[in-house]
Amino acid sequence: MRYNFDEIIPRQGTDCVKYDAAESIFGTSDLIPMWVADMDFRCPPCVTEALRKRIEHEIYGYTFLSPGWKPAIIDWVARRYNWQVTEEEIGFVGGIVPAIAFAVQCFSSVGDNILVQPPVYHPYFHVPKDLGRNVLENPLKLVDGQYCIDFEDLEEKAAKSKIFILCSPHNPGGRVWDKQELLQMAEICARYNVLVISDEIHCDMTLKGYSHVPFAAVGKIAEENCITFMAASKSFNIAGLKSSYHIIKNKKLREEYSEFLRRSELDFAPLFATATVAAAYNDGEEWLTQMMEYVEENINYMQEYIAVNMPLLSIIRPQASYLVFIDARALKMEQPALVDFFVKQAKVGMNDGAMFGKGGEGFMRMNVGCPRSVLHKALEQIKAAYDKL
Ligand SMILES: Cc1ncc(COP(=O)(O)O)c(C=O)c1O
Repeated sequence: MRYNFDEIIPRQGTDCVKYDAAESIFGTSDLIPMWVADMDFRCPPCVTEALRKRIEHEIYGYTFLSPGWKPAIIDWVARRYNWQVTEEEIGFVGGIVPAIAFAVQCFSSVGDNILVQPPVYHPYFHVPKDLGRNVLENPLKLVDGQYCIDFEDLEEKAAKSKIFILCSPHNPGGRVWDKQELLQMAEICARYNVLVISDEIHCDMTLKGYSHVPFAAVGKIAEENCITFMAASKSFNIAGLKSSYHIIKNKKLREEYSEFLRRSELDFAPLFATATVAAAYNDGEEWLTQMMEYVEENINYMQEYIAVNMPLLSIIRPQASYLVFIDARALKMEQPALVDFFVKQAKVGMNDGAMFGKGGEGFMRMNVGCPRSVLHKALEQIKAAYDKL
């Protein structure tokens, strides 16, 4: 079956953040929203079918985890990542940002240092800070158009940190960390007894030529010192179902974290959360493959369009996911002017690169999980504004 990713599906009026919150975020709704990380594609039919089946019952009482949920995860990570996990190592948690917040509370104290790698997904800063922790930074280096890790600096900061939040694959840089890099991070963190929270929410969406390696799968040293978070939410466009999970191999860490969640009943899944994930993993792989082919073509299209029409812009070519970091440093604009250029003049709603911390200035993040015609229109609008500069 071929899926149609060209179809434009109106999302306005569905309480969706991307469209319906644009006015409050950008001060106008007169723009093409290409910011928050969900896609404008219909999710796989198998997911809707699982939802429909449940909805039609018309009684939505208390539920437990769908019995097919853990087997589907076990199968998925074995099939896609050659990673063997067991049922007891998996637990439900309703969203990865909350899951990170719970882990920070569970495994560190007020005043502890939490290590992150900017420019990086912005809640990695505000979640620890809101919980009274300090954020230490190991800034990524941009080498030949790709982000890489400054291991010397990582070691220096790890020596003072309690937890390291790893974004793997990386958002917004789009890097898929290779086994050697993961191993080196694992060794440093083990040396200084720094717990690794590995956020792998984008892992199902690697682009051609790249494959994801779960941090915990690089060896015993990583497995013993790590909490992995994964979800079907990004890859199958079901973020609103608030369904994600942790995989923890180390028994002591697992018991501590599970107990933390259990005490506040945070390990209870809402009605639609687990059966839909099982459906996506069991029957949605073909959809995912086609969706990623479409996204890859969007990225190619965008890269070529920019090269031909706007030589002062370029992109950090992502190795995973549909988020593209646009390098606009050559425009030599102050950040507020740059945001104004893209949002107010070009009328394309994107994420301000500066929100991702150090190294994000001069960049904007564009979400290309949309029909090509929408991407084309956005690029035309940016070009029209660019030509007036
Ligand atoms: C790296 C990363 N982690 C977590 C999230 C959000 O996860 P959740 O919606 O499950 O809280 C995002 C969303 O963009 C993300 O990019």
